[in-house]
Amino acid sequence: MRISVIGCGYLGAVHAAAMGSLGHDVVGVDVNSIKIDALAAGCAPFYEPGLPELLDEVADTGRVRFTTDIAAVAGAAVHFVCVGTPQKRGEFGADLAYVHAAVDQLLPHLQPGDVVVGKSTVPVGTAEQLAEQLAPTGATLIWNPEFLREGFAVKDTLHPDRFVYGLPHAEHGVPTPEGLAAKALLDEVYATPLSEGIPLVVTDYATAQLVKVAANSFLATKISFINAMAELCEATGADVTSLADAIGHDERIGRRFLNAGLGFGGGCLPKDIRAFMARAGELGADQALSFLREVDSINMRRRVRMVDLAREVCHGSIVGRRVAVLGAAFKPDSDDVRDSPALSVAAQMQLQGAHVTVTDPQAIGNARAAWPSLKFSDTVMGAVAGADVVLLATEWSEYRELDPDELGAVVAERRILDGRNVLDPARWRTAGWTYRALGRP
Ligand code: UDX
Repeated sequence: MRISVIGCGYLGAVHAAAMGSLGHDVVGVDVNSIKIDALAAGCAPFYEPGLPELLDEVADTGRVRFTTDIAAVAGAAVHFVCVGTPQKRGEFGADLAYVHAAVDQLLPHLQPGDVVVGKSTVPVGTAEQLAEQLAPTGATLIWNPEFLREGFAVKDTLHPDRFVYGLPHAEHGVPTPEGLAAKALLDEVYATPLSEGIPLVVTDYATAQLVKVAANSFLATKISFINAMAELCEATGADVTSLADAIGHDERIGRRFLNAGLGFGGGCLPKDIRAFMARAGELGADQALSFLREVDSINMRRRVRMVDLAREVCHGSIVGRRVAVLGAAFKPDSDDVRDSPALSVAAQMQLQGAHVTVTDPQAIGNARAAWPSLKFSDTVMGAVAGADVVLLATEWSEYRELDPDELGAVVAERRILDGRNVLDPARWRTAGWTYRALGRP
């Protein structure tokens, strides 16, 4: 099948390579020539485990091309829209400029019977508008949200938990014949993963768009729930990690996404819950999502609390203190620093007078571009040398495995703040460290 992928960021680049590995002929298009040059040379333009290998694999087949020229999409039967929908400046709503630009540019190249597949996360109602815009071309829109996690993007694309198709529906509530024909084509694209028995939910546009934001809102709520419990644990001397283990044994609750700490960041959860609240307001249903405002507040409070904890262990002031921050990415196995809790805390401490040095195995380049005023070190030892306090902010596996004695030999003071609740407190305390964490005694 000939496929085009518009937008080659964290989602689109992986999607293009993955579709190539499924045997399709793919052209990936992006306006960013730096990204395209890297991809065309077979290099991943960002850190994503497994993507370099996947690009290598498809490079050998010659089935995947990357270009900045939108005209290259002509002749493809299925066009995936994978562009970003960032938060608007100064507003909660999502900025749809890239989605509209992608569809506007696709229009002159579409043929009757083509399928346009929306994967970007959009406010409900967007697909209906785009479908109207596409109608004169004879192309059909399917809304097919993606649920990939950075760090697991290759696996999540090739073997997702589920597929969701939002099809155009006729007034009496059944898919239109064009919708069913488009579904058959998309089934062919995903034939290999579908043959593994991955569940497929076929629904309407509104539901398909809502599924994505509902899923992310649920995940954000789960994280903020356990972080709210962490606040209670701090007030009572209880331990939030034991609490999470205990409630997580209940299958109805489940242990995953109950890790308390610095909370959620990244390019999805924070902006998606805000855009969802904004959209609910437009729909006159803002009360239904007012709890998400609290989810957001709990999350942001964790960052402030971490700065307070640093102040506490430094006997009341961080002014002039050296702070080493381990981690800049919003989560491990990613170089993405969008709304990174680690960088947010590092910057707050710096603004409050601390001398902060940040290190990260992959994200220093992006972090430096986002926060040029922070100091960076390529190595853990370089970052922690002479530190008055060390903050583990992103739980990279190499940070989980740090040796308290080795680190202790170079710091000025043995004080560690475990922002992700991943270190063994007893081990660090035995080595003479003051160990503090969010939600633990
Ligand atoms: C998320 C969704 O998981 C994915 O399905 C969707 O398609 C895009 O958004 P991603 O942003 O890659 O994926 O990261 P995710 O693994 O969900 O983590 C989000 C944030 O929550 C990270 O900052 C992470 O550190 C934090 N987190 C996660 C916690 O604080 N506690 C947890 O228990 C889990």
